[in-house]
Amino acid sequence: MVTKETTATDVIKVFIADPLSEDGIYPLREEKDLNLEIIIDTGNSKEELIEKIKDVDALIVRSATKVTREVIEAAKKLKLIGRAGVGVDNIDLQAATERGIIVVNAPDGNTNSAAEHTIAMMTSLARHIPQAYLSLKNGKWDRKSFVGVELKNKTLGIIGLGRIGTEVAYRAKGQRMNVMAYDPFLTEERAQELGVTKSTVDEICKEADFITVHTPLLPETKNMINKEKFDLMKPGVRIINCARGGIINEDDLYDAIVEGKVAGAALDVFVEEPAVGHKLLDLPQVIATPHLGASTVEAQESVAIDVSKDIIKYFKTGTVTNP
Ligand code: NAD
Ligand code: MLT
Repeated sequence: MVTKETTATDVIKVFIADPLSEDGIYPLREEKDLNLEIIIDTGNSKEELIEKIKDVDALIVRSATKVTREVIEAAKKLKLIGRAGVGVDNIDLQAATERGIIVVNAPDGNTNSAAEHTIAMMTSLARHIPQAYLSLKNGKWDRKSFVGVELKNKTLGIIGLGRIGTEVAYRAKGQRMNVMAYDPFLTEERAQELGVTKSTVDEICKEADFITVHTPLLPETKNMINKEKFDLMKPGVRIINCARGGIINEDDLYDAIVEGKVAGAALDVFVEEPAVGHKLLDLPQVIATPHLGASTVEAQESVAIDVSKDIIKYFKTGTVTNP
């Protein structure tokens, strides 16, 4: 049997499958001790990806590339998958684990951007900014149709008080909102420290004027906001999802808006992306962005740097920072 030992001169192929910040991958480009070959090849179909990653050692993705079992099985030399962002729901973790492939993400780099985007969406929703802009661009000076609501003294319910949820809470307090929060790990002490009211999901549904979700997409969180929860909500509630499509049941949200229970929704994420032609986008009460929560210069640079450093660390030491 012939075995091959890895030496410092072996070529390590790093395949970047989604657009990443060029400034963020400078650690890979600058790396001198490892013999890295960086392949930037984005926008591939599943079949093309499977063909191209057969001999790569590391794969870096954002959310667009689906790293399915089939993809993982095709990548015979794959040792590490880097996710330049938070959510790893586009990666088959079970399949990766079975092959001993390490999955690393960049959990901190886009927190601020995602929180800022959430607040921007909430404010835009409250004041109909996208709809008013479109109306004006289309030649109308219509002030009557776009009377909004203030955020001050309204109650914001945050479901998922992790990194982004917490940053949203700080900002909402700055808008003088009352903040209720649910997270399975939220203690009374922590809630007091943050100035939020520790609540259950049902309490939030019954009392909040705005509800924003910031959980990962997991079997437990999939469809957690559904018809049963919409039925509990106050008429006129407004919903924000800048976390993951599917945490809020899209059909139930559609019905709740059409029935007049929900006054509006601000969505950055959808079950199927790209969500072009989605029925929710036909509703005038819905404002949306195409998964832009982390799309800032700062966040993209930061997540790419974190993943690049982890790749270097792994191939030098066999360990990573965010397994
Ligand atoms: P995080 O891990 O820091 O926080 C998630 C929180 O959700 C944790 O505190 C966890 O305890 C909580 N949680 C888990 N299960 C729960 C449940 N059943 N009910 C309530 N809370 C629950 O993650 P984060 O960095 O704050 O990211 C949150 C979400 O935002 C993720 O889905 C991530 O993928 C998404 N995200 C989206 C964008 C975007 O571009 N729109 C950008 C960054 C992150
Ligand atoms: C994330 O989970 O980090 C976000 O969806 C952002 C992204 O992938 O760009």
